[in-house]
Amino acid sequence: MSTVGKIIKCKAAVVWDKKQPIVIEEVEVQPPKAHEVRIKMVAASICRTDDHAMQGDFADINFPIILGHEGAGIIESVGEGVTDLKPGDKVLPMCVPQCGKCSSCLNPHSNCCLKLHNSESQNVMPDKTPRFSCKGKPVYHFLWTSTFSEYIVMPHYSVAKLHDKMPLDKACLFGCGFTCGYGAAVKVAKVEPGTTCAVFGLGAVGLSAIIGCKVSGATRIIAVDINSSKFEKAKQFGATDCINPNDYSKPIQDVIVEMNGQGVHYSFECIGTTECMRAALECTQLGYGFSVIIGDAAPNEYITFDPYLLLTGRTWTGCVFGGYKSKESIPKLVNDYMAKKYNVDGLVSHTLPFHSIKEGFELLQAGKSIRTVLLF
Ligand code: APR
Ligand code: ZN
Ligand code: ZN
Repeated sequence: MSTVGKIIKCKAAVVWDKKQPIVIEEVEVQPPKAHEVRIKMVAASICRTDDHAMQGDFADINFPIILGHEGAGIIESVGEGVTDLKPGDKVLPMCVPQCGKCSSCLNPHSNCCLKLHNSESQNVMPDKTPRFSCKGKPVYHFLWTSTFSEYIVMPHYSVAKLHDKMPLDKACLFGCGFTCGYGAAVKVAKVEPGTTCAVFGLGAVGLSAIIGCKVSGATRIIAVDINSSKFEKAKQFGATDCINPNDYSKPIQDVIVEMNGQGVHYSFECIGTTECMRAALECTQLGYGFSVIIGDAAPNEYITFDPYLLLTGRTWTGCVFGGYKSKESIPKLVNDYMAKKYNVDGLVSHTLPFHSIKEGFELLQAGKSIRTVLLF
């Protein structure tokens, strides 16, 4: 029996309030309204940001909520006016929209679409209401994606169509982790061959920055993490040196500068603390050092730094979603993966059935996983 146009009852991981545990509940998912699509999820992966959001440490959060912003699935039905996606398409729901109409979308240098949560809440659909409910109460969306649900509803301009043959248990990594790290190196820093890079934090984001540095031809890639168990994988992806700040008495930025004479060409902060952001800037070369912030700091955290660092020619920037315009870029990135330009499979450290999502979060909190992929 067709589900088109009907409310679907399915399982989803609901967080009822800040710091409360995740509970698998039966939820109702409304049909898509105009310019929206409903997606049957196939795979989802757990990112550090989901954990921060569960603790209430995220700017755009409203409980009860269904978390998750990495996932992939198949279009179940489309609302009125949707012409670019059809039932049966393999798709990636994305936390960064590309509406194609706002000043940011029209600017060739920006990917910060004004539909992004910084400008408008993504806890509700564009008509300001959620499509989820549970036990008679509305349940809110997270970054619109809410990938920890068997079915989700998304505005069509935040959904990318994938190659028919793309395996969806790998596609989900493109929803945040891989794209954010890889794009920071390839698209934002535009790492040049023969250069030296430093990558702070060796989760999925940092490892993906290493992939990007390597693909770009960097000859020295210094990987930094306080958890030395991350070093083996970093080396597999292309790190040439791995250092643990806890092994040194002096600040890690001083150690990196000494390793290179005057500092690195490029650095990437893939952790999300202001202290590490500053360290990443300070370890770059005078004159042309380039440092990219990718980690998400807690709301209302600020940095102080010596402006002389910038006066003397360093560049400090940051990016969401690797600087890529989301809807047009994801299909290309996925095609590059299928053409074996790079391999992301090693970012998947664990695979679990969806109902074991709690175990997935425990692995993340214990520093044991890179990405746990949940299969529906
Ligand atoms: N110095 C060095 N490494 C650190 C430090 C520190 N002070 N603090 C944490 N780390 C390491 C952790 O040990 C971990 O290996 O940083 C890594 C971060 O990896 P994950 O927590 O797996 O995070 P990831 O999913 O890669 O995301 C990184 O980007 O999207 C944002 O919110 C996300 O801010 C987070 C960042
Ligand atoms: Zn836009
Ligand atoms: Zn993420």
